Amino acid sequence: MRHAPGQERSMPTTSSHSGRVAVVTGAAGGFGTAISLELARRGADIIAVDLKAAEDTISAVREIGRKGITLQADLADPEQVEAITADMRAFAGRIDILVNNAGIFPFRNVWELDFAEWKRIQSINLDSQFLMAKAVMGSMRENSWGRIVNLASNSLGLTVPDMVPYMAAKGGVVGFTRALATDLAPYGITVNAVCPTASSTPGGQTFIGDEVLQAVAEMQAIKRVGSATDIVGAVCFLSSDDCAFMTGQTLVADGGLMRV
Ligand SMILES: NC(=O)c1ccc[n+]([C@@H]2O[C@H](COP(=O)([O-])OP(=O)(O)OC[C@H]3O[C@@H](n4cnc5c(N)ncnc54)[C@H](O)[C@@H]3O)[C@@H](O)[C@H]2O)c1
Repeated sequence: MRHAPGQERSMPTTSSHSGRVAVVTGAAGGFGTAISLELARRGADIIAVDLKAAEDTISAVREIGRKGITLQADLADPEQVEAITADMRAFAGRIDILVNNAGIFPFRNVWELDFAEWKRIQSINLDSQFLMAKAVMGSMRENSWGRIVNLASNSLGLTVPDMVPYMAAKGGVVGFTRALATDLAPYGITVNAVCPTASSTPGGQTFIGDEVLQAVAEMQAIKRVGSATDIVGAVCFLSSDDCAFMTGQTLVADGGLMRV
């Protein structure tokens, strides 16, 4: 039987992340849950951070046989990130992997956009990645090993209206990734970004909607709507030992829409 590309994945048997401790932000649903579960299947223990309690994600992590905790914080708020930093460290005594996934992607007409909304979208999508990197990179440096994976977006390469604040933030994510990669390379820490396509996550349903999700799928080389699990292979690779000589890069895993 033939499958469309990307639909033939079976459950992984790799233990590429055995013994690693991973922080995944935005882990109460969508990509964050899928990433957490795949990292756990590959051997990692999971710290699931979100505005909401990520209880379902952590229950599933424990069913896989890995350890996990959920911590709640608004990652756009430096004081709330500070408040969870000791708890993240206390969970296993160290942090090896950070997946900066939390984000929002509202469409905003630039004529109506005010500065407060602009700042809010930058804070959640970009400031949070800086704050979380600062919170964990000291632990990575102590062990001379670390992997930071930042979620960007393929919308950076498209002509989509009403995305000024979101694309500015995600463009910032790519620049942040490149610059941080330079500064952390001497400590054995790699920093890379992933660009997903419009996908049928809870956020995709809320911010994008079925009609546009379908229209985007039609523009892709692989003509089906992206799902939460379509991103996990790229994130797992970038957070593994296999990624030791690759840093500052942006990997586009979007069904072949944006070509770089
Ligand atoms: N789904 C898509 O179509 C798509 C496409 C390209 C890029 N992305 C990016 O992927 C990432 C995840 O998207 P998703 O589709 O899984 O979204 P989602 O809305 O389904 O899940 C995002 C999670 O982040 C959490 N979150 C939001 N703001 C937060 C904050 N201030 N502090 C802590 N947690 C917060 C939410 O509670 C939620 O659980 C985002 O960075 C998004 O920009 C998504």
